[in-house]
Amino acid sequence: MKKIIIAIDGHSSTGKSTLAKQLAKTLGYIYVDSGAMYRAVTLFAIENNFIDKKHLDKDALISAISGIKIEFKKDALGTTTLFLNDKEVSSKIRGMEVSNLVSKVAALPEVRKCLVKEQRQMGQQKGIVMDGRDIGTVVFPNAELKIFMTASAHTRAQRRFDELKSKGETVDYDEVYHNITSRDHNDSTREDSPLTQAEDAQVLDNSTLNHNEQFDLVMAWVASKIEKN
Ligand code: DC
Repeated sequence: MKKIIIAIDGHSSTGKSTLAKQLAKTLGYIYVDSGAMYRAVTLFAIENNFIDKKHLDKDALISAISGIKIEFKKDALGTTTLFLNDKEVSSKIRGMEVSNLVSKVAALPEVRKCLVKEQRQMGQQKGIVMDGRDIGTVVFPNAELKIFMTASAHTRAQRRFDELKSKGETVDYDEVYHNITSRDHNDSTREDSPLTQAEDAQVLDNSTLNHNEQFDLVMAWVASKIEKN
């Protein structure tokens, strides 16, 4: 069967990665979480004291960027894990410290240029599902299927809150809500590759769709794109 590229963009905590993983598993495609790559660069910047709440040493981060090695690897159970310079950081990149600083790092054109290049290489053979903010607009503007996901800010904050709590993090709902709305704002208003819906994207508002309804709808889109290509 012909392989296609599936680009999934949208607001934070709309369930992009859950959908992307499920699609990749069903179709036998590679799954790439591009947000995890921006999070890994942010963790690198924190660990090297290039960034904190009050300052960002752009120049230092940019000159160190070629020394950042980001790799997705499967563990023994088949779960994808993320390695930053040979250290496993899958949980660390999901914490509030990285979440609160990542949009500053993701706004840097030099960081984006470097990660977009890697992301395009991963999609050379097609058969890939990638989720993020600029996948259908910048990384793969010719992707056969583009999906733009959205849901109300409250629905999203509750989902993120439940996810963090289930991992044992001490979290405050208002902080999570604030983090989501301020990331929406930063992601949509930054100069380089802001979060925008590609003209040819299918919009998926899942505030009221359940998991199965959403998956069936998207699989119908996939089938029709594979048929056409
Ligand atoms: O999908 P996420 O919440 O893990 O993404 C983390 C941050 O990275 C988010 O604030 C936006 C940014 N990002 C981006 O700018 N471009 C992407 N392709 C993916 C994520």
